[in-house]
Amino acid sequence: MINNNPHNNPENRGQWSSKLGFILAAAGSAVGLGNLWKFPYLVGKNGGAAFLLVYILIVIGLGFTLMLGELVLGRKTQLNPLGAYRSINKKWGFAGGLGIVTSFIILSYYSVIGGWILAYIIRSLTGAFSGDTVAIFEELIAGVQEPLFMHFLFLFATVLIVYAGVSGGIEKYSKILMPTLFGFLIILSIRGITLPGASKGLEFYLKPDFTQLTTTAILAALGQVFFSLSLGMGAMITYGSYLPKDTNLPKSSVIIPLIDSFIAFLSGLVVLPAVFALGFEAGEGPGLMFITLPAVFAKMPFGIFFGSIFFILVLFAALTSSISLLEVCVSYVVDELKIRRRYACIILGILLFLVGVPSSLSLGLLKGVKIFGMVFFDLADFIASTILMPIGGLLLCIFIGWIWGSKKALKEVTNNGEIKFAASSLWEIAIKYVVPIIIIIVFFTTLTNS
Ligand code: PHE
Repeated sequence: MINNNPHNNPENRGQWSSKLGFILAAAGSAVGLGNLWKFPYLVGKNGGAAFLLVYILIVIGLGFTLMLGELVLGRKTQLNPLGAYRSINKKWGFAGGLGIVTSFIILSYYSVIGGWILAYIIRSLTGAFSGDTVAIFEELIAGVQEPLFMHFLFLFATVLIVYAGVSGGIEKYSKILMPTLFGFLIILSIRGITLPGASKGLEFYLKPDFTQLTTTAILAALGQVFFSLSLGMGAMITYGSYLPKDTNLPKSSVIIPLIDSFIAFLSGLVVLPAVFALGFEAGEGPGLMFITLPAVFAKMPFGIFFGSIFFILVLFAALTSSISLLEVCVSYVVDELKIRRRYACIILGILLFLVGVPSSLSLGLLKGVKIFGMVFFDLADFIASTILMPIGGLLLCIFIGWIWGSKKALKEVTNNGEIKFAASSLWEIAIKYVVPIIIIIVFFTTLTNS
């Protein structure tokens, strides 16, 4: 994936070894627990199809625009997010710095959920899913040693991959594992939809009822677009910074959100009809996937086999996202603090583990400790994906549209006029006016309402 061989790259920073490698890595960053775990439960919690529709509209209106914005800023500057902003305008380093803080916060609890996936792989291999799946999930997250140990293991795996300089391995595996995951989601969605009683769930997922749509739901959809597409915190700036100068950025900025949204849609199709068919609560929250899927597997021939492979695929999708989160922090520490890559990985790994501990414990032992009415886990997620990422996106728009200048950015997008970009004026209007205005409106109406 990223080629860190200094002899191949005069700037010593590494570069993607192929275009496909980049697309896979960027799609790998985008496709993760956000799609498989978070999206279905947010749909369930926020009123079903109306939420889905708002989500799709936000991807179309904001997702493509911001994706291109981040990639172009990264490729132009070939730097980490902080350096990228600062190299164009000295006063704007803070915008990149904010992204680095955001990715650190996300990874601290992302790896807690990654740990649950690990625990579920073991449970499905040992066939422990025959009983009450709600009780199984609640027992896991309320525990102390097991979730903490799994959180540690997940982070350890992430650190190990990033530590090794992210070489050919992942690119090779992605080519096989991503399509396999895709195939599995299709099979599972067919199983889900054909369960007796699933049609209620399909209706909930696909037939919008706008009376269900609250401002909180719209803000949640906005946050989820950022989270799922890995936007607003510099991951795509960082990945763009490893791109060679001849890539077609507009094309990549369309392909990545498309893949990501399709996978999210599919995982909703897997989970939600089954929720209704099996009599679970759609508004259940973060446990939805963990509770529903094992029950679906139990109803399938070779369920243990399918279940185990499925959770292994989810783990892989989660790892390709977590390495991009860690990569943002590492690229900053390496470029700016001049610490060696390997030390940076280890130090960050330890800090991330420690910061993740209260998130993990807040679902059991520390359940009673609430800050602003939320347990630590929810608070971390709220601060990162609902507040910091949209702010990061807003700053990106202002920066590209007005500080760097959209004309200059377009010059880089089109490789100085070499490639055609038919939507260039549309993109300019979007990044200068439409997207910032939407973010401001959604953001402030919701915050003042809540
Ligand atoms: N997009 C990832 C997911 O859906 C999470 C992520 C967010 C990764 C931000 C990188 C940056 O799981």
